[in-house]
Amino acid sequence: MRVRVLGSSAGGGFPQWNCNCPNCDAYRKGSITLRARTQSSIAASVDQDNWVLFNASPDILEQIKAFPALQPARALRDTAIKAVFLIDAQIDHTTGLYMLREHRQPLELWCHALVRDDLVSGNPLLKVLEHYCGVNWHDVPLGGAGFSMDGVPGLRLEALPLISNAPPYSPHRDRPQPGDNVGASLTDISSGKRLFYAPGLGQMEPHVWAAMQTADCVLVDGTLWTNDEMITLGASAKTSRDMGHMPQSGPDGMIEWLDKLPASTRKVLIHINNTNPILDELSPQRDVLREHGIEVSFDGMEIEL
Ligand code: MLT
Ligand code: MN
Ligand code: ZN
Repeated sequence: MRVRVLGSSAGGGFPQWNCNCPNCDAYRKGSITLRARTQSSIAASVDQDNWVLFNASPDILEQIKAFPALQPARALRDTAIKAVFLIDAQIDHTTGLYMLREHRQPLELWCHALVRDDLVSGNPLLKVLEHYCGVNWHDVPLGGAGFSMDGVPGLRLEALPLISNAPPYSPHRDRPQPGDNVGASLTDISSGKRLFYAPGLGQMEPHVWAAMQTADCVLVDGTLWTNDEMITLGASAKTSRDMGHMPQSGPDGMIEWLDKLPASTRKVLIHINNTNPILDELSPQRDVLREHGIEVSFDGMEIEL
């Protein structure tokens, strides 16, 4: 299985257009220890011809340009993206669907019914898309034996309900319901190798932890370093956990959890907010991650499993 990090940043990207936090400011002033990042998305394939996109970021056109495998050029209009899987209905994970509107057939779209509800009501993106390519919606079952997608051979998927947060426009905001956010286990059917992907993970639960323990690589929520990061900066009144993102540091934080995984498990953070000090390769926080064997993903990173 080949996994490509298309976008490693949280909503807003890095640098964020209106932000002058220490990271965004240092980047604009030419720091070479920080690299620009687009918004949260990955692509995966087993046969390397047929890809599934996980989340459709507003930066998707730039991401596709940067990854030629997604454009095999077999016909006048072509793509190697055979399906799109949405883990939630957040702006940073869904608005890229607008950029795919020239597709010649309806997009094969996989998401939970609660996510679809949000995308036909609070943010009626799927209704607007009906006037373009439209979508062929597949409900994502939670847990169980998993499922595979037509057109994406060799890959089995399992969606795990997890506690994060629905978008601000959703009637479920601050009232998590099973399915409004999911993690995904991707298994290469022939090798059995497995990736666990959860860019939004607010709280550890036993079934999520069990899935992480059976993965060869976990690609998980790296949004904020401290729970009060946005408050301390004066950027927001919300804690990391309020927003549905477990911080890396502190008690019950992501580092503590990742430390309990086997040493052989590859541990990678994704969906990193522009304020997070780990973006600076020379920061002491980045050193802490290195000591714990935790990697920070970047746009264009590839994971072979
Ligand atoms: C989040 O995960 O909380 C989002 O990145 C927020 C957003 O896209 O505005
Ligand atoms: Mn996000
Ligand atoms: Zn910033």
